[in-house]
Amino acid sequence: MPSRPARYAVIGNPIAHSRSPEIHAMFAAQTAQAMEYGRLLAPPDGFAAAVDAFRAQGGRGLNVTLPFKPEAFAYATRRTPRAEIAGAVNTLAFDGDDVLGDNTDGPGLVADVRDRIGLPLEGARVLLLGAGGAARGVVRPLLEAGVARIAIANRTAARAVALRDELAARLPPTDAARLSAGGLEALAAGSDAIVNATAAGLSGEAPALPADAWRGARLALDMVYGARPTAFMRAAREAGVPRVEDGLGMLVGQAAESFALWRGVRPDVGPVYAALRERLADAA
Ligand code: ATR
Repeated sequence: MPSRPARYAVIGNPIAHSRSPEIHAMFAAQTAQAMEYGRLLAPPDGFAAAVDAFRAQGGRGLNVTLPFKPEAFAYATRRTPRAEIAGAVNTLAFDGDDVLGDNTDGPGLVADVRDRIGLPLEGARVLLLGAGGAARGVVRPLLEAGVARIAIANRTAARAVALRDELAARLPPTDAARLSAGGLEALAAGSDAIVNATAAGLSGEAPALPADAWRGARLALDMVYGARPTAFMRAAREAGVPRVEDGLGMLVGQAAESFALWRGVRPDVGPVYAALRERLADAA
């Protein structure tokens, strides 16, 4: 009798909009992995119970999205160093009583910038907009990719400074020295890449950057994605930034890292990115 395919899912609230099942179905087909990947809607106070039930049914791994990434961090029995620094977990892998928590969001961003977009991160000066969980998650992977510096700029400057201080205390001194922090006005100039990790786009806004922030930038990337460019992307284009991208490549990149962790096989992200981009455009 053939064995059942290995079970995976993405858990969140809401979850209906998640593209992860499509992405992992394409990865599984491409690499001939016998697996199924579904969606799990958990009530706001029911994360652990939903994960327990999924494991009891033989589930092997989960992707975790809003609002449960901090709870997934707590649920894990051990965590990768990048998840520890991120303070959040987007990938769980189950093996008996062992629950490994990882965070593949930052590696997904790094892979997308370096491999698909083609911007070398070695020596690059990065302006990171925002000081919430999305910004926190990408700092260490960017440092590991060899960036020269990361300026964390936030509307509320004190939050950026607090994040920098907290991360700096947990990083080697040479890494900590590459981090600066402040308000949106102060730090903006002289960046090779500007990454928007704020939630401003959700309300149709762009972070209020001074005009000289864009000067010399070779890439502007918004971590969110959609059928249409975000306000941040439109502002970057108007300012003449030569390469403007959304977060779809990061989404596919983080999924590929999770898939590789679970299955030990690295999928080819290129065709999956292209297929998703086409579907997004068709749905517009
Ligand atoms: P997440 O975990 O998704 O990063 P968060 O912790 O709520 O979410 O953080 C949201 C981030 O978006 C913050 O950096 C926030 O700036 P403040 O700390 O000043 O609130 C930023 N943000 C939200 N709306 C914004 C806007 N309209 N302009 C600029 N920044 C905005």
